[in-house]
Parts: sequence; structure tokens; C-alpha cells
Amino acid sequence: MIFKLRSYKPEDFETLYEIDQLCYEPAIAYSRRELRNYLSFPGADCVVAKAGAKIAGFIVTASADAWGYIVTIDVLEAYRRQRLGTLLLARAERRLAAKGVRQVALETATDNTAAIAFWQKHGYRTRGIRKDYYSGGRDAYSMVKRLNAGAKKARKGSEAL
Ligand SMILES: CC(C)(COP(=O)(O)OP(=O)(O)OC[C@H]1O[C@@H](n2cnc3c(N)ncnc32)[C@H](O)[C@@H]1OP(=O)(O)O)[C@@H](O)C(=O)NCCC(=O)NCCS
Repeated sequence: MIFKLRSYKPEDFETLYEIDQLCYEPAIAYSRRELRNYLSFPGADCVVAKAGAKIAGFIVTASADAWGYIVTIDVLEAYRRQRLGTLLLARAERRLAAKGVRQVALETATDNTAAIAFWQKHGYRTRGIRKDYYSGGRDAYSMVKRLNAGAKKARKGSEAL
């Protein structure tokens, strides 16, 4: 499968909302209002992946100075384990590095074994547990990664971002 990445456009919103509802259980999925807020934060960025005409996944990040934050990454089930999450994350990290971000943080549910394996594979390390982070009393791991020299180099060639 060939995936094409591009920046978010406002007309994507409803599809991204629907994908988020499919990717997360109700206690974790964003409401329209939450998703809209995250997409419009200062420093927010969103990369969308298309498989043909269909949106297959997306990633939303936020940043302030040297810190970046992964708000969400969503890959539709039919497109998982085909490196799409990896592609989206790599693009998002390059874009964060180009803005001067040096460390990226995120939260993930402590029972989301697929996501934990995904983040660990990409160099994210657990720095603590946030109790009752999600509604319904679910805990989250707080994870962090220092962006490497390879990410710094991407600042020079912005056409690839
Ligand atoms: C987590 C998620 C984004 C991964 O997307 P993906 O496109 O399937 O990931 P990739 O194909 O790039 O996987 C890269 C590596 O991550 C790890 N990984 C991904 N999914 C995994 C799973 N279900 N079980 C174990 N390891 C997994 C593997 O090491 C994998 O490499 P491999 O396929 O060579 O073994 C996707 O499962 C998803 O959208 N889940 C629902 C939403 C979610 O939980 N998001 C993260 C919350 S913080």
C-alpha cells in the first residue's frame, strides 16, 4: 500500500473525528470540541495520510519552544502494521525538530499494549505513571523522547517536511 502524507485541511475535520472514534474506546476518544481545540492550539500541527482517496490515519502534535507533544496518532485498523504509524510519526518529529523542538512527550493508556510497543520501538521511554489520567479511572504512562541529530539535520531541507 502506498501512503501519501500531507498537511491537515479544515475539510478533513469530520473524517478525522470519525477515525478517532474508531481508534479509541469512548473513555479516550476525543469529542468534536476537544479535537477542534487541539487542532487550533498555537503550535498545533497535523499530518494526514491518504491511501488513494481515503484518509487512512493522522497525527496531531503541539509544541512550545523546545518541547513537543504528541496529542494523538490514529491509524485505521485496516491499514495497521504497514508502517503507516511509523511514517506519520517520522514526519511529525521532523516538523517538530524544524521548529526547534528537542524533546517530545506523550501519554498512552497503560493497557494499550500495541501503542506501548509502537512508542518503545520509536525510542520513547516511560518517565512515570499518571493515575486516573483518562475518564473512567484509567492510568497513563507518560513517555518522552529526545530528538536525535538526524532530526536536527531535517531542519536544513524544509521541502521534505
Ligand atoms: C499505535 C498505532 C498508531 C500503530 O500504527 P501502525 O501503522 O500499525 O504502526 P507501524 O506499522 O508503523 O508499527 C511499527 C512498529 O510498532 C510496533 N507495533 C505496532 N503495532 C503493534 C501491535 N499491535 N503489537 C505489537 N507491536 C506493535 C511494532 O514493533 C511495529 O513494527 P513491526 O510491524 O515491524 O513489528 C495504531 O495501532 C493505532 O492507531 N492504534 C489506535 C490508536 C492508538 O492507540 N494510538 C496511540 C495512542 S497514544
